[in-house]
Amino acid sequence: MTALPDRIRSLLFAPAVRPDLVRKMPAVSADAVVIDCEDATPVAAKDSARIDASALAIEIGGQVPTFIRVNDVDTPWFSDDIASLPDTVAGIVLPKVETTAGLEFAAESLATAGLSDLPVIAGIETALGIADARTLLQHPLISGAYFGAEDFVADMGGIRSADNHEVHHARSVVALAGRLAEVPVIDQIVADFHDDERCRTECEQARAMGYSGKLCIHPAQVAIANSAFTPSPEELDHARRLVSAYEDASARGLAAIDFEGHMVDEPVANQARNLLRLTPG
Ligand code: COA
Ligand code: MG
Repeated sequence: MTALPDRIRSLLFAPAVRPDLVRKMPAVSADAVVIDCEDATPVAAKDSARIDASALAIEIGGQVPTFIRVNDVDTPWFSDDIASLPDTVAGIVLPKVETTAGLEFAAESLATAGLSDLPVIAGIETALGIADARTLLQHPLISGAYFGAEDFVADMGGIRSADNHEVHHARSVVALAGRLAEVPVIDQIVADFHDDERCRTECEQARAMGYSGKLCIHPAQVAIANSAFTPSPEELDHARRLVSAYEDASARGLAAIDFEGHMVDEPVANQARNLLRLTPG
């Protein structure tokens, strides 16, 4: 496992077959970007897309941490995708991770390409991936993960809805697996890129669940994610006052106090400490 950028609040995608969009990504302020050779690249364009992705990653890689999403290990394109990665790439996004054997194969392929140290963000987005998420994310290859709601629901034969009930369990499983593996997890896309409110609400829910960022497919979503996954000055001020009041009370022999009308005990104080610890500066 190697390091990801310090934080990925927003991970912006553009298709390898859309160099016009890829070239706009560095100006969008995403924490990292992904050139997609998988779902957003048609089958007929897989071979040309990997060559374009490589050239584009070299072109924009100096401006923003740039990942390439390769095709999954069970496709005929995977090995060529890995063999053509430029060594300047910030990492790969490996979709539809399902088995330890698949991860071993990916690790061997990266080693053969001389890229053993490349960070890998795993897509957990199938029934099997969710069922085995805890084991998969603990594999040493993995530096981070995302939850892919659209593929998951397709694999389940379900129906995607705005209230997210159908993904609640799987989305929670990925957060839990990320916590146990101590790798950051990135939340599902919002396909309706005109719905800023949905994006904001999902970011807030995801942050509350322990996610550290959001997959973005459109520039408008990046600003929303960056803001939602950054604690506000008010939140930080509240956390500082809470911890200070709690520690004063602890020194007086108390472990549960009334802080501004709310009960604060050790786990509540720990939530505030986490917020302060995870906030740079
Ligand atoms: N990255 C960078 N810029 C993007 C962008 C992206 N992913 N998506 C849109 N833009 C740009 C557009 O080019 C346009 O720029 P302009 O103001 O200079 O003309 C601006 O943002 C507004 O775009 P808009 O017209 O609202 O959207 P669109 O119709 O051009 O594109 C999509 C909509 C969905 C086709 C496009 O956002 C997209 O392809 N997203 C990524 C899809 C993807 O990679 N999916 C796989 C991963 S889940
Ligand atoms: Mg997909």
